[in-house]
Amino acid sequence: MRIQVDVNEAMQDYVAEVSLREHDVLRELREKTAELPLHLMQISPEQGQFLAVLLKALGARRTLEVGVFTGYSLLSTALALPSDGQVVALDIDEDWAAMALDHCKRAGVADKVDFRLGDARESLTKLLSEEGAAGSFDFVFIDADKENYYAYYEAALELLRPGGLVVVDNVLWHGAVIDETQQDSETTALRAFNRKVHEDERVDLALIPFADGLTFAVKR
Ligand SMILES: C[S@@+](CC[C@H](N)C(=O)[O-])C[C@H]1O[C@@H](n2cnc3c(N)ncnc32)[C@H](O)[C@@H]1O
Repeated sequence: MRIQVDVNEAMQDYVAEVSLREHDVLRELREKTAELPLHLMQISPEQGQFLAVLLKALGARRTLEVGVFTGYSLLSTALALPSDGQVVALDIDEDWAAMALDHCKRAGVADKVDFRLGDARESLTKLLSEEGAAGSFDFVFIDADKENYYAYYEAALELLRPGGLVVVDNVLWHGAVIDETQQDSETTALRAFNRKVHEDERVDLALIPFADGLTFAVKR
């Protein structure tokens, strides 16, 4: 028997009530994103705040985000970084990128954002082979197309310094990872990803069943 609080809606409201501190521009961005059909792709405000606390605890200066959408995690990150910090942000969608950058500007943190529009695998290859960025990042957040998660993770491990942290979102995929009737490409990719990372001795590992499941891997 394991102790596990039932995080129902009332409990989520309580957690927000006693802990959430949301920047005004983050709130505006969340409200605008809520009007979009794919709004559920956005991380929750509690998750954004959690990322910010992690970055501050790590003393992160240079971070990478794979999968930006309208920018909630990006803006949470940019706000948490020191004034000379930088987040390299990768996404393929021009309209969402514009929305993300607009809100970073409005919050006064656009100078910390280096946005690379295009396929994330190509941007990661460029960072590694043309820019010599291996070992230069403190933190990587992976939250893009699930089929490419393992490729993103491999690139992240090369880009991180030893002791750097990679956080991977949606690893429990609303519970589908333990439902064998679910055999779509995203679910099977996430199952394979979770198994491979479990065996990966290059990292220290934790999988936290918070939000949609978060994997934490620290590069040894
Ligand atoms: C779940 S959303 C990211 C949510 C975001 N982290 C947030 O806090 O709102 C996934 C994003 O990955 C992007 N994406 C999907 N495939 C991609 C690819 N091959 N290269 C770059 N970005 C991709 C999508 O355009 C989308 O914006």
